[in-house]
Amino acid sequence: KSINTKYRLNYHFMPPVHWMNDPNGLIFYKGEYHLFYQHYPYAPKWGPMHWGHAKSKDLFHWEHLPVALAPSEWYDKGELESHGCWSGSAVDDDGVLTLIYTGHVEENHPQETQCVARSKDGIHFEKYENNPVIKAAPEENCFGFRDPKVWKHEDKWYMIVGSGKDEIGKIHLYQSKDLNTWDYMGVAVESDGTMGNMWECPDLFPLQDKHVLVISPMNIKERNLYAIGDMDYDAGKFTFDHFQVLDFGSDFYASQTLLDDKNRRILIAWMEIWGSKSIEEAKDYGWLGAMTIPRELIVAENGTLLMRPVEEHKQLRNRHFSFKNITLENETTIIDKFSEVSYELNALIEINENVQEVGFSLRCSEDDTEKTVVTYKVVEGLLEVNKNLSGNGVQGISVAQLNHKDGRIHLQIFVDVSSIEVFANQGEKVITNRIYPSETSKQVKVFTRGGKATINMDVWTIDSVWDE
Ligand code: FRU
Repeated sequence: KSINTKYRLNYHFMPPVHWMNDPNGLIFYKGEYHLFYQHYPYAPKWGPMHWGHAKSKDLFHWEHLPVALAPSEWYDKGELESHGCWSGSAVDDDGVLTLIYTGHVEENHPQETQCVARSKDGIHFEKYENNPVIKAAPEENCFGFRDPKVWKHEDKWYMIVGSGKDEIGKIHLYQSKDLNTWDYMGVAVESDGTMGNMWECPDLFPLQDKHVLVISPMNIKERNLYAIGDMDYDAGKFTFDHFQVLDFGSDFYASQTLLDDKNRRILIAWMEIWGSKSIEEAKDYGWLGAMTIPRELIVAENGTLLMRPVEEHKQLRNRHFSFKNITLENETTIIDKFSEVSYELNALIEINENVQEVGFSLRCSEDDTEKTVVTYKVVEGLLEVNKNLSGNGVQGISVAQLNHKDGRIHLQIFVDVSSIEVFANQGEKVITNRIYPSETSKQVKVFTRGGKATINMDVWTIDSVWDE
């Protein structure tokens, strides 16, 4: 096993080696969190998909387990690199850990079916002998039929499957008593024509007194969307008002959720995006792919979804630095005594007279040519993460609308070796990006433009959770 550790992260989940994409089968099972993932265990490239597997007690320290699923049957194995065990979900069926996934093969055209595998020990899985449990899409010539998400409501199992046809992304709904035999209930929800032509990795779950739908739409600018609405289980319909973006960064895709014993709805996404620069370079590094920090979802009073790092992140806090009342007027200051690659930065910013912009340069080189810039543009009410100078030629500016509250904004920023996640105003807006700074780019700078702002901040270093 030879991997280049240059961009290995300190407190984000990564495959031990080679390729990873979507999180799969997230579940809290027998007192532990299980994370499966799309994995090609033989090379740092996408290939015949396996399900990698890891478990954790605290969502940060993970133990790698043997590969859970590998292509082996006519419905998930073949000559092409696309043949394999594609994304899906997991349920606890009366103590039996059960995976539901898409078998993908292509003879003349892609054939996607839904399949089941079960485990007695939570480690070794056996594919169901009568797989596939759903042998074909309910309509012909659809564009994709994959990524089953299964959950229980009252005494029945429900499955949604992502699909699309004639430029309309949609979700098919099924019902079952035993996970083996499934009845089609119809299209639970579909695009109005502007929301993508295929909805990958759908997730639909109850939260507080609503239901939330999260999708990864294809072929539109937004790479993730959610809607808060209501699920009518008898009619098989999800109704909602409108879609919104869940994470405004450029490296957040294929998110999935689980429910734990504290009744928390926790989300993890693939912190990468198809076509990103790091995918091109993975072959040189020997590995690819990381997961976001696990986040708790909450429906806010105004009908939006808040996304906050799970509280377990606090146990990662190591050395503490406190910087009080930094008042800047149209100037930039270096936070000396602080020079790190992995940390959590919590800042409360008070916007005073005439200030137009206030923000941070992070993972900044001494000559200022490399940096990731987080800026709050006061007049426009925009929060920006600019990675045009973030290293290794990555490009892009991520933007989210953000209102200040009585002249204040709060930013909680997680920086790791090759990532940055910004949580604004307690999870109102979140921006997730991969960055590729040099190891030596470690300075933190604070700046204001135009007028004055006062910044109070706490920073904690975070050490590696890995043994590598
Ligand atoms: C999303 C996705 C899924 C599919 C899997 C294949 O990133 O394209 O729709 O099941 O990846 O690896």
